[in-house]
Amino acid sequence: MLDTTTLRAAQYSWMADEPTIYLNAASVGPMPRVAVDTADAWSARRARPHAIPFEDLLDSAATARRQFAALVGADTEEIALMPNTTYGLNLAARALPLRPGVILAFDGEFPSCVYPFQALGSRGVELELIPRVNGLPDEEALVRAIVQRDDVVAVVVSWTQFATGYVADLARIGHACRSRGVFFIVDGIQGCGVRPIDLHALPVDVFASGAQKWQLGPWGTGFVYVRRDLVTALQPLDVGWACMKSTTDYTRLTEYEFDFFDDARRFEVVTLAYHDFAVANASTALLLDLGVANVAAHIEGLTARIVDWAQSRSDTRLVTPADPRRRAGVVSFAPTELDAMAARLTAAHVSHTVREGAIRLSPHVYNTIEEIDAVIGVLER
Ligand SMILES: Cc1ncc(COP(=O)(O)O)c(C=O)c1O
Repeated sequence: MLDTTTLRAAQYSWMADEPTIYLNAASVGPMPRVAVDTADAWSARRARPHAIPFEDLLDSAATARRQFAALVGADTEEIALMPNTTYGLNLAARALPLRPGVILAFDGEFPSCVYPFQALGSRGVELELIPRVNGLPDEEALVRAIVQRDDVVAVVVSWTQFATGYVADLARIGHACRSRGVFFIVDGIQGCGVRPIDLHALPVDVFASGAQKWQLGPWGTGFVYVRRDLVTALQPLDVGWACMKSTTDYTRLTEYEFDFFDDARRFEVVTLAYHDFAVANASTALLLDLGVANVAAHIEGLTARIVDWAQSRSDTRLVTPADPRRRAGVVSFAPTELDAMAARLTAAHVSHTVREGAIRLSPHVYNTIEEIDAVIGVLER
């Protein structure tokens, strides 16, 4: 069980001082105190770079890879540090050995699951969107298409959708892909840090996530997981100095040995944001320490209350699936009086977003059931 009171006092003391009820982790996760302190300390050090041992920089990156790996049940060698989710999805789009054919995705996905794959037209790879049913992804149709068609070369889905909060069944889709030799790519940002995941137990080939939302990290940090057997099979398309083995020895840089790292570091192209990753490390360590399973249970207690409320209202349509297995931290609902309800939330300092014609609430580990009840009170007014 999580001790939210202690967590809030230690990491989010501003929440006791301000009227804000922060229900917007699906947009930006608030950094915990420990991350803010790390940022301050690194900024001070950054002003005097000569005082930062080189090993500390390498350690910042190595710790980030190790902790992100722990967060998703991967090996460190399968993790490359990225500035965000979309870069990892681009890696999948451009480096996977895709033969000409069709990539399938759900209509309604965040654009980063769409544009990088639409861009492959000149290679004879077309993106096809599976139409929504009642506003939600049609997983039946997707799996049917994977197993029945011969032209499907890859599938890309969000683990959790940004607007509907729908959680895809990664095992089911992945097994269908695997049975047909189809690559399976996952945008993990709306699920990572909300729910536990064991990528080694799932038929996922590439999984990308930025750390700026549910992982409570700074902007500009994230990672991509590439399944071990694929790491050396992918030819990095962006080639820099940092993806080569020779990077580890600064005395040999001009020997120009064209030899990629054998692990996922081969996809890291440039000098890394050591400073920002050090901050992300503080946030990831906190999540790992709390235990993502505990975080998930806490969030489920909060989201279930919102789901129950939305279902009890005749003037409000629950957009997110009611089934707890099919939702994570995002709950969206569409009231008939959308603008008025959103305005009431804003006036009451409830941080939320309106996406695709619905109000989206996204509580995280620091929120309390009392806050959710207060928000429901505002919605009922
Ligand atoms: C599903 C999904 N993917 C990706 C992103 C953002 O991508 P990036 O981390 O590349 O900025 C968002 C942000 O809202 C998102 O909801």
